[in-house]
Amino acid sequence: MKSLKHLFERNAKWADEIKKENPEFFSELSLQQEPNYLWIGCSDSRVPANQIVNLPPGEVFVHRNIANVVVHTDLNALSVIQFAVEVLQVEHIIVCGHYGCGGIKAALDNKQHGLIDNWLRHIKDVYRFHKDELSKLSEPNKIDRLCELNVIEQVQNVCNSTIVQNRWADGGKLWVHGWIYSIKNGVLKDLDCTFSS
Ligand code: CO
Repeated sequence: MKSLKHLFERNAKWADEIKKENPEFFSELSLQQEPNYLWIGCSDSRVPANQIVNLPPGEVFVHRNIANVVVHTDLNALSVIQFAVEVLQVEHIIVCGHYGCGGIKAALDNKQHGLIDNWLRHIKDVYRFHKDELSKLSEPNKIDRLCELNVIEQVQNVCNSTIVQNRWADGGKLWVHGWIYSIKNGVLKDLDCTFSS
């Protein structure tokens, strides 16, 4: 069986390049992580958290799932948020969606996709909340707007989590942001739905 040798070669080259610039980079980073950002994004391979904001390893704590959804009962997402807020003490949580999201498209197309349809139900809920606005839009605009509305909705879900509520009640500094990324030009847009209390 091939062991994806080319990926190990790429890894060795990458690690060498970083050590050439800063020989202590990995040894310093191995002692502790002190990221100031929690990134909640889509699993889409075209939306890699660190690369988009051009930050090196150690700077961004990351949670990704299909269509960057934050569900009140998702122990995985909640555990990530709790660890980021309470242990790492990040000051910023960024929910970042992207235009042309396949999860959003699939939620809109009324076809069956298997297990994932249960996950996409959460996005169908977002559609239902904004049906009046969305039903007036033509197809590409409708998908892009739902991508934006989904981010705004998930920001609300982060804010309403007990973890964030408790942080704010304790007077802790914590900002929750909603951003959207264009896979067509690589540019991020702030959706102006930042909350700090
Ligand atoms: Co996506």
